[in-house]
Amino acid sequence: MKQLADKLYTTGRLMPDEYKSLIEGRNNELSEYLFEKARSIRIRNYGHDVYIRGLIELSNYCKNDCLYCGIRRSNSTAQRYRLTKEEILECCNTGYGLGFRTFVLQGGEDGHYTVDKMTDLIRSIKAAFPDCAVTLSIGERSYDAYKAFFDAGADRYLLRHETANPQHYSRLHPASMSFESRKQCLYDLKKIGFQVGCGFMVGSPFQTVDRIVEDLMFIKELEPHMVGIGPFIPHHETPLAGCEPGTLELTLYLLAIIRLMLPAVLLPSTTALGTIDPKGRELGILAGANVVMPNLSPVSVREKYMLYDNKICTGDEAAECRYCLQKRVESIGYRIAVSRGDHKSIL
Ligand code: 5AD
Ligand code: FES
Repeated sequence: MKQLADKLYTTGRLMPDEYKSLIEGRNNELSEYLFEKARSIRIRNYGHDVYIRGLIELSNYCKNDCLYCGIRRSNSTAQRYRLTKEEILECCNTGYGLGFRTFVLQGGEDGHYTVDKMTDLIRSIKAAFPDCAVTLSIGERSYDAYKAFFDAGADRYLLRHETANPQHYSRLHPASMSFESRKQCLYDLKKIGFQVGCGFMVGSPFQTVDRIVEDLMFIKELEPHMVGIGPFIPHHETPLAGCEPGTLELTLYLLAIIRLMLPAVLLPSTTALGTIDPKGRELGILAGANVVMPNLSPVSVREKYMLYDNKICTGDEAAECRYCLQKRVESIGYRIAVSRGDHKSIL
C-alpha cells in the first residue's frame, strides 16, 4: 500500500483501481504516511502560509432543492434574507481591515442577483479594494453571465461538482439538475479564464468508494485551481436528515490524496470539518490543506445561512473568527498570510 502512496506522490496520479485500494486499505499508519507526504508537497509550494478568504453569505434564497442542503427551496422554516450592496461593501471593509485580500461572495441560486446587479457589485468591490480578489460562489449560470462576471473583474469561481457519478448526482438533487450541466458550467468557467474550484461532500448519502474514485478522476481531468471538500452533515429540515454524517478520518485522508494529485491546488480546510471536530480545521491543514474561509457575513444573518446543523461560528464577529483562526493556525506551526493567495500557476 505504501507503494501506491509513493506512486501518487511522485507521479500525481493513480489508476482507478489503485485509488480504490489506497482508500479501502487505509489505516492509521498509512494515513500518517500520506499526511507527511501531503505536507511536504504543500510546504514546497506554499511554505507554512495559510491563505484566508472572507466568506460573505449574500443570500439564502435558493431556487434549487438539493436534498442535502438546509437552504433548499422546500425548507419553509428557513428565514430568508438578502444582503444589500451597502451591507456587502461594509463586510468587505471590515474584512480588509482584518487582513483579508480575497472576498468570497456565496449564496443560494437567487434570481434577485441579476447579471446587472452582480456586475455592478463586482465592479464596486474591485474599485474600492483593487488589491483584492473576488471569488463568486452563486451556482449555475449561463456562459454569458459567467463571462460578464469575469469581465466585470471577478477572479475566481467555486462550484462544487458534488459527485461525478450521474446516478449519484440525481439521488442528491431534484430532477431539474444534472451532473452534465454542472460539468458544463465548470468547463465554461475554466474557458472564460476564472480560477475554478470544484469539490464534493465526503460521506454524502449513497456515496461509495467507487464513486469517490470517480470524483478523483474527474478532479484530475478538470485540473481545478481549488478543491473544496468537507464532510456531509445532515440538516434536520431536509429529506436526508436521518443520514449519517461523513467522518473526519476519511475527509482528512482525501484531503491528503488531493494534495498529492494536484501539488499546487488551493485546498480549504472547511467550516464543515471544523463543525464535526473541534480540531478539524487544524487537522485539515496538517493533512495538506492551505486555505481557511472564515465568515465575514453580518452576525445578524449568520444563523440563517445554515446549510447543515450545528455550523460553527454563527455567533462570532468577523474579528473574533479572524483571531481565533490565527491562534489555531499558529498553534500547529503555520501562519496566516495577508495576501490574495493566488494559485501558484498565476503568480
Ligand atoms: N453538509 C455539508 N456540506 C453541505 N453543503 C450543502 N449542504 C451541506 C450539508 N448538509 C455544501 C455543498 C455546497 C457547499 C456550498 O456546501 O457541497 O456546494
Ligand atoms: Fe470563528 Fe473560531 S473561527 S470563532
